[in-house]
Amino acid sequence: MVRKLKKAESEVQGRTEKRKLRNLARLKKRKELQSAAKKVEKVAQSLAFEDDKPKKKKNKGKKKKFLKLEAKASELGVPVENLIENEEGHMVKRLEGGRFRFINEQLYTMTGEEAQKMFEEDPAAFDHYHAGYRDQAKKWPLNPVNVIIQQLRSKTGLVIADMGCGDAKIAECLGTRNTVHSFDLVAKKPCVVACEMSNVPLENNSCDVVVFCLSLMGTNINEYLREAHRLLKMGGELRIAEVTSRFENVRAFMRGVCRMGFEFKTSKTMQDYFVVFQFKKAGKIEHKRPNGLTLKPCLYKKR
Ligand SMILES: C[S@@+](CC[C@H](N)C(=O)[O-])C[C@H]1O[C@@H](n2cnc3c(N)ncnc32)[C@H](O)[C@@H]1O
Repeated sequence: MVRKLKKAESEVQGRTEKRKLRNLARLKKRKELQSAAKKVEKVAQSLAFEDDKPKKKKNKGKKKKFLKLEAKASELGVPVENLIENEEGHMVKRLEGGRFRFINEQLYTMTGEEAQKMFEEDPAAFDHYHAGYRDQAKKWPLNPVNVIIQQLRSKTGLVIADMGCGDAKIAECLGTRNTVHSFDLVAKKPCVVACEMSNVPLENNSCDVVVFCLSLMGTNINEYLREAHRLLKMGGELRIAEVTSRFENVRAFMRGVCRMGFEFKTSKTMQDYFVVFQFKKAGKIEHKRPNGLTLKPCLYKKR
């Protein structure tokens, strides 16, 4: 009986120990699993941190930088590859600035016909000139082309000739309610007709308004005004915007315009820097080459 009891006792002990061992093993496994899970979570977190967050930030920054470059490139009229933001970027700009000043100087010291030839031989020169011009105009508190647009904004049904139109802003702003003919030496937009403005493809007496906004660049100003006179209906408006520093003698210039068959109406000086004249066609051309009808070149400073 005692032996039986001892056997039963040892069997129970054995079973208890076995259970304890099994429990211990289970506990160990669970702990191992938990710590493994924790490790996996940690790795996943670090991966997310390393891979996702900084990459997102980096890409965002890159996109922003690229958009900035793209905007700058379109503003200057050059491909993005030609723009670099660091030191090299300054170099590119300086070179373009130099090129712009050179072309600008040429345009003020040659006839329109010579300028036309210059751009035919070197078409990239036109883009360089305009990129530089836009760069300059951006710094002006007021652009005279916007003043002329404002002056004409309330009118409708007019036939307007924009001589030396550049980016054809007048057509863009007034073209839906008026007929705007845009002329320049090179046509960079579909609405622009490439021609020399002393000889444009429009009929005599066909225009209500002829505009020269900063475009009396060539040395043959009298020929441009003669063309304006040909195009305008009697009583039609001639609007000229120029840089004030180009005038040796404003009165002599105005007298010269009047001797080409126009009557002075008004003039408006803008911040001492630009002057916008309004004349009207009033009669025949008295003098084909009147004195005083000269303007000094407008030379932009190095920056
Ligand atoms: C200073 S930009 C002004 C552009 C535009 N009128 C404006 O105010 O935004 C002068 C423009 O006149 C053009 N131009 C100069 N001489 C010209 C000529 N003889 N015939 C046609 N265009 C001329 C140039 O090519 C240039 O686009």
